[in-house]
Amino acid sequence: MVDADQARNPPVIVVGVTGGIAAYKSVTLVRELVRRGADVTVIPTASALRFVGVATWEAISRNPVQPGLFDGVAEVRHVALGQRADLVVIAPATAHALAQLAGGFAADLLGTTVLASKAPLLVAPAMHTEMWDNPAVQHNVATLSDRGVHLIGPITGELTGGDSGVGRMAEPLDIAERAFGLLGDQSWSGRRVLISAGGTREAIDPVRFIGNRSTGVMGVALARAAIQRGASVTLVHAHLEVPLPAGVVGISAGTAAQMRDAMVSHAPDSDVIIMAAAVADWVPETVSDTKIAKRDIGETWAPVLVRAPDILAELGAVKGPGQLLVGFAAETASKASEREASARAKLASKNADVILLNTVGEAVGFGDVETAVTIFFNASPQSLLVEGTKTSIAERLVEALQDR
Ligand code: CTP
Repeated sequence: MVDADQARNPPVIVVGVTGGIAAYKSVTLVRELVRRGADVTVIPTASALRFVGVATWEAISRNPVQPGLFDGVAEVRHVALGQRADLVVIAPATAHALAQLAGGFAADLLGTTVLASKAPLLVAPAMHTEMWDNPAVQHNVATLSDRGVHLIGPITGELTGGDSGVGRMAEPLDIAERAFGLLGDQSWSGRRVLISAGGTREAIDPVRFIGNRSTGVMGVALARAAIQRGASVTLVHAHLEVPLPAGVVGISAGTAAQMRDAMVSHAPDSDVIIMAAAVADWVPETVSDTKIAKRDIGETWAPVLVRAPDILAELGAVKGPGQLLVGFAAETASKASEREASARAKLASKNADVILLNTVGEAVGFGDVETAVTIFFNASPQSLLVEGTKTSIAERLVEALQDR
């Protein structure tokens, strides 16, 4: 995951850990930041060290941890860490930490580091619901937010006392995703992106379905690329062979009908919609409640299939002003000119703005393989050929959509 540029010039991240039980989860956060190529220095507060000790932070961050304000005075550490940081993350941030940040207190190394840093600050609060709801805490959160501090979470879920509610720290991998988003190109910040991915499966009976060979790699890679540029991404997914990327809102929709409903209901709130899913074109007219046995059928079987909704066309028909609708065209014709003509026809008939032509076949096009995608824009006779792995193509596609 560490690319050559990062290895030469890794982003410098300071992770402040304050004294809540979620401190143990920040071990995963630090590990993920390091795994993705960051140079991480951890500053635990005195209270945080009661939960997780220096040895753990040093081992995970692979950097020395000197938590005292008067450690390393000769190197002027109380400001040096903040000055060289590209990003400061505080996770978990207790109610007390939020008050300190809002008040600009500098009584400990984390306080001086934050004040000395011009880098973006990402804060992941964690506390019990009552504390989070307290007007004093909310006032501090509003102050930080007004000041441009990035907040992530808290999320709703089980809390330490066995009760549940809002107050859990955001998931460590989501915090890491957001951190990398803040470090890089944030040109998609504020954009709401809706992506479909994976292959639908249409039941015939309780054990059989009609499916396709889609793995979901392209849709997931597009989601990740958009998140890394700061977009908020909803991923409506059918069958996937890869995990959901951290930071997306995932909505499971296994069949064409479920996917249609999910896409249609989320589309009005989306700026960019990308139909990367392989959706069934026909679905069984009836689904048997019991397994269909050979004795009921005989030697040949022709189940009746009916047309599934064309989701892209439906979204195209109700496309709002300023909305960008992107589709794929999966083509297998051997002549490039035929594949291109079919892709352009889909672009026009479905009222999409962009269509991505993917050449598919049994051995090409599925999984994170080297492939080639040609991009056609409705407003232009020109096309753009992008080659590479699907992950790298996704990056380039998001760049190509940037100005549209
Ligand atoms: N699509 C859709 N709903 C369907 C089938 C396809 O929204 N029931 C979308 C796909 O997600 C893709 C685009 O339409 O973005 C084109 O899909 P493709 O399979 O290439 O073409 P079809 O429109 O299904 O046409 P055909 O199978 O006849 O080539």
